[in-house]
Amino acid sequence: MSSEKDKEIKDIPEESYLDKTLRPSRWEDYIGQKHIKDNVKILLRAALERGHTPEHLLFYGPPGLGKTTLAHLIAKETGRQMKITSGPAIEKVGDLASILTNLAPGDIIFIDEIHRLNKMVEEVLYPAMESGVLDIIIGKGPSARTIQLDLPPFTLIAATTRVAMVSSPLRSRFSGGVFRLEFYTNEEIAEIIRRSSKLLETELEEEALAEIAKRSRFTPRTANYFLKRARDYAQVNKKSLDKETVKRALDMLSIDEIGLNASDRKFLEVLIEKFNGGPVGLKTIAAALSEEEATVEEVIEPYLIQLGLIERTPKGRTANKKAYEHMGFDFIDKQD
Ligand SMILES: Nc1ncnc2c1ncn2[C@@H]1O[C@H](COP(=O)(O)OP(=O)(O)OP(=O)(O)O)[C@@H](O)[C@H]1O
Ligand SMILES: [Mg+2]
Repeated sequence: MSSEKDKEIKDIPEESYLDKTLRPSRWEDYIGQKHIKDNVKILLRAALERGHTPEHLLFYGPPGLGKTTLAHLIAKETGRQMKITSGPAIEKVGDLASILTNLAPGDIIFIDEIHRLNKMVEEVLYPAMESGVLDIIIGKGPSARTIQLDLPPFTLIAATTRVAMVSSPLRSRFSGGVFRLEFYTNEEIAEIIRRSSKLLETELEEEALAEIAKRSRFTPRTANYFLKRARDYAQVNKKSLDKETVKRALDMLSIDEIGLNASDRKFLEVLIEKFNGGPVGLKTIAAALSEEEATVEEVIEPYLIQLGLIERTPKGRTANKKAYEHMGFDFIDKQD
């Protein structure tokens, strides 16, 4: 008899294997975001026909909506090599210079978290993006001089969850366009789950699928994550993957019927109980929750806003009637 221990362990970590399996690598498999797909496809096609490298692109929006996936997809569909780096990884001007001078003609460079690029590096990036040149300062003090190197033609694709933190001179240099990824519709999320369950070879009942979709925060990464957890739960408990199993699995993760997790509910509770429904500033509520402001702004709030539970007003964050009802508090209209 084989025990748990005897089970053969596959030599690749499952997480990265699953990510690779589920990540769409053709336009047909990239569900939704029609506006972006339509525009980007034309841009790529036109550049190809003219024999040029496509212009620089910036993708922004909440985590898990498919920014990195889009970059990989573009590289694959255009048959280009892609060098991957990130804002915080490019610490010095020299780091950027070495990346740019090592590009082959037509390469794509992907910079994730571009909002974390430092000012000095940014200044060097401007002429590189605009005119394809690298300005390097040699020497120090009065004897310092600038030399200019011609770079091979390249396409920069950048991603960020915080577009407001990307300086406007940098933003304006994404001549191919600045695109905002939208939350997915329920139907799109359902389609993504259906595709993923096929790839994972799991039998997923239609009702179970709807249950995962409903709690997925309109976000593909979350949908795939929930599908994997529900699959684990079903396997370990020797159950079929039906609605009840999904509910149990997601309850164990403290995900409620509308997809709120413990941090989301804590946010609403604090906003309603401690701050009387707001308005309250970002700093104050982040401090009250012991969360980073960035986490509150990028991860927690977008979904709550999307659901219409809270609003961002000039005076601060406010809770809507829907939030009171969902959290089981009596709503008192302050306008009366
Ligand atoms: N349009 C889509 N269709 C199908 N699956 C998608 C789509 N977009 C994203 N996914 C799935 O969701 C996962 C997360 O997407 P991705 O890593 O591209 O998000 P991101 O926007 O880069 O997030 P972050 O801001 O955290 O880096 C992908 O691995 C992929 O499996
Ligand atoms: Mg990403």
